[in-house]
Amino acid sequence: MAELKYLSGFGNEFSSEDPRCPGSLPEGQNSPQVCPYGLYAEQLSGSAFTCPRSTNKRSWFYRILPSVRHKPFVTYEQKNLTHNWDEVEPDPNQMRWKPYQIPTAAAHKQDFIDGLYTLCGAGDTRSRNGIAIHIYTANTSMIDRCLYNSDGDFLIVPQQGKLLILTEFGKLLVEPNEICVIQQGMRFSVEVFGEARGYVLEVFGVHFELPDLGPIGANGLANPRDFLTPVAWYEDRTVEAGYTVISKYQGKLFSSEQDFSPFNVVAWHGNYAPYKYNLENFMVINCVAFDHADPSIFTVLTAKSLRPGVAIADFVIFPPRWGVADHTFRPPYYHRNCMSEFMGLIKGHYEAKEEGFQPGGGSLHSVMTPHGPDAGCFEKASKAKLEPERVAEGTMAFMFESSLSMAVTKWGMETCQRLDKNYYQCWESLRSYFNPNNKPLGK
Ligand SMILES: [Fe+2]
Repeated sequence: MAELKYLSGFGNEFSSEDPRCPGSLPEGQNSPQVCPYGLYAEQLSGSAFTCPRSTNKRSWFYRILPSVRHKPFVTYEQKNLTHNWDEVEPDPNQMRWKPYQIPTAAAHKQDFIDGLYTLCGAGDTRSRNGIAIHIYTANTSMIDRCLYNSDGDFLIVPQQGKLLILTEFGKLLVEPNEICVIQQGMRFSVEVFGEARGYVLEVFGVHFELPDLGPIGANGLANPRDFLTPVAWYEDRTVEAGYTVISKYQGKLFSSEQDFSPFNVVAWHGNYAPYKYNLENFMVINCVAFDHADPSIFTVLTAKSLRPGVAIADFVIFPPRWGVADHTFRPPYYHRNCMSEFMGLIKGHYEAKEEGFQPGGGSLHSVMTPHGPDAGCFEKASKAKLEPERVAEGTMAFMFESSLSMAVTKWGMETCQRLDKNYYQCWESLRSYFNPNNKPLGK
């Protein structure tokens, strides 16, 4: 595959035309009486028309046929995707999931759409406020079908297998340790190269932004120029047997048929476009004296709520870095959080959860449920000689953190490893280790 080209910058006003059709992007206006090459102009709005300029998002497509040329939508059966958060009783317990099994293509062909399973979430697609966390496993490319999300934005985190994502804006190649964001309404089709697995964070009603940097200043964390957007690419392809466009709408899937490829955009311009980001480019800020900065310093992208500083969802990573804090317990401290924390592991070993947390698996620590390093990690870190050390070498853990109190789906509960007595016993040993006689302190 020839190396793909990208446009650089987060949320820029981009312009792109397929080099096979020079001059296809109209100049000086969006909707000429007749577009160059006889193309159809079509706007995709990503924000209300009257949003303040800083949050106003839209793009203009110049395409061979308009998207409206399709047959009616009918229900598409996909039973693993849900936004019913009342399938099972609420459960505040700490939860773990082993890596999700990917079926082999020989046993069961499964593409990205059919391989989406909802694990947990909160909120509502109709009032456009909430999130869902899905897992995908796929062994087959999407052939003559695409997906778009009417409910919100997908942040896709591949864990195994690269994805070639064809969008109306062009092609994105996304490999593990990279992420991509496909926003509301954007049509895309996923090609895989063997067995693929990953995580999807979906937010309803808002878009991801770069976090404010405050006293950090103008540079640092995820830098805007490292976000890459595809360049225009089109195919003028008739599909006699039917091309299937699938819409995720109010938590359900619907399909409609048309007789041409929807990836027929010859040129486009605008600030509403998909993008990818390589997590290796994250410029880590951390403590250089003692104690911990809050994990918000690891935020790559945030989907803000209307309350200042409170996110519908943050995408947070824990990349390789130096640990240098003096007289400090260096691993993550014990804590209880007013937010829900879903964690996943792309590769390596997460320092605070050596056991039962593997690449491709996950954990959920619900609102105010206590968690922290296991007893072995606590003991080791308490005795460690504090020298500068590489932390999380070869590892990339991440967190989807939400201010919403997330519910686990029926499938999530069925696949969860219920934490047994041994899990809790590992903390029971904390007191006996430091206070072997188990006497109240001060006696
Ligand atoms: Fe936590």
